[in-house]
Amino acid sequence: MDLKIVGGDLAKAKTPCLILGVFDKHKLSGPAEAADAASDGAVTALLGKGELDGGKGWLMAYDIPGIAAERVLLLGLGKRKECNRAAFIKALGTAFGRLAEARVAKALLALPKEADDYLGVRAAALKAAQSAYRYERTKAPKKDAPVLLAELDIWVDKPARDAAERAVAHAAGIAEGVALARELGNLPGNLCTPTYLAERALALADEHTALSTEILDEDAMRELGMGSLLSVSRGSREPAKLIKMTYQGGDDAAKPIVLVGKGLTFDAGGISIKPAADMDEMKYDMAGGASVFGAVLAAVRMQLPINLIGVVPASENLPDGAANKPGDVVTSMSGQTIEILNTDAEGRLILCDALTYVERFEPALVLDMATLTGACIVALGKHPSGLFTPDDKLAKELADAGDAADDRVWRLPLWEDYQQQLDSNFADMANIGGRDAGAVTAACFLSRFTKAYRWAHLDIAGTAWVSGKEKGSTGRPVPLLAEVLIRESGVETTG
Ligand code: BES
Ligand code: MN
Ligand code: ZN
Repeated sequence: MDLKIVGGDLAKAKTPCLILGVFDKHKLSGPAEAADAASDGAVTALLGKGELDGGKGWLMAYDIPGIAAERVLLLGLGKRKECNRAAFIKALGTAFGRLAEARVAKALLALPKEADDYLGVRAAALKAAQSAYRYERTKAPKKDAPVLLAELDIWVDKPARDAAERAVAHAAGIAEGVALARELGNLPGNLCTPTYLAERALALADEHTALSTEILDEDAMRELGMGSLLSVSRGSREPAKLIKMTYQGGDDAAKPIVLVGKGLTFDAGGISIKPAADMDEMKYDMAGGASVFGAVLAAVRMQLPINLIGVVPASENLPDGAANKPGDVVTSMSGQTIEILNTDAEGRLILCDALTYVERFEPALVLDMATLTGACIVALGKHPSGLFTPDDKLAKELADAGDAADDRVWRLPLWEDYQQQLDSNFADMANIGGRDAGAVTAACFLSRFTKAYRWAHLDIAGTAWVSGKEKGSTGRPVPLLAEVLIRESGVETTG
């Protein structure tokens, strides 16, 4: 999708559709005011007919005198005081949906002053790009399907131009990362296997010279002593892969940021098999891994001056004669032994070895992302991802980045008090901690493998995809990760 910053006289702009913001009580945004003046009050007159009263919804108007655009989409933004970035972006979603139905592929968005800073422009551009994604790999669009947005010009006032240009460039990179994460997530489990993910990672390195990929197969993992990870893939006919993507954008000496993502390409639960209802959604159990792909691609596309390593342990979790059994004890790469009391708590089993593995990179920071627990959805619902870290400063940084990227997280405790729930009579720890606080005990389990570095864990079980009629991958938390990487890289974003 083409994204561009433009300026100049809005009334004279030739475009299939000019999008203007309107607040409640018919208060016009700055650009809408300019258009109103150029049209001799035609915009105000339209609003006077009573639509968009509460400032929500939209109104499409054609052939407005004095306005060169073929049509104008007046977009309700609600109360001016309450119109923060998140509300504005939500309204934009409505606008882009309307454009698709109207089969308009090109538009000009006039940003109100309230949203024309770096983050506002970036969020608007990202929203536009995201509205242009449609899953087509195994389903062709119908002939009369909505037309996807192909070109968006974003109009900003002159003083904001520099930051806006940077914002659009970043948005384009982030959008590619989000689209990749969504596509990998949406692919069915029979196509998106661990081997497929490995091939995609190799292909990415072919496409981008700044990126290199290394794949560890099961023999290599055995040599490293990854007994926990390999115990999960043993129950499947698809061999596990440990995918490592390296982006060297910073100083040679600079310590890398490491992203680790759960790449469980299908989770049937293993011998502790899941109920049948909605089991198809367990194809999304590789969404953490997909977010690593997406964040790495975004960093490459934004050419961030950082060193970044993405690691994705990829496996299936299925029941067969060789699968883990409840009561089995395995030895992790760290040397710690694990009693597997529930084979469906497999994410932590593949992550723990990946987390031990990444110690060797002497990371400045490790973030892991995983669709780890249903309990996280019970605790937080589907709005924020769960955030766990022993590091208060890091918790604040991630929460701030999540707010800025409109991809929020909410911290849950990782207190010592919970650790005893993982006690086992037969191993150093059990892989489950009982009914209480399941998201916390899962994070506690991971914390036992992450002592060597600064670390946070994101439980994205509630945020990585949506269910129901609109079932599909969200690409979260790629926007958050991209924001973290931008901040860590120190590149200028404002001014
Ligand atoms: N992938 C699931 C977690 C999950 C379930 C994410 C539903 C999103 C929606 C994970 O591997 C799992 O099965 N976790 C178990 C852990 C339990 C056995 C301690 C769970 O959440 O039920
Ligand atoms: Mn599971
Ligand atoms: Zn799982």
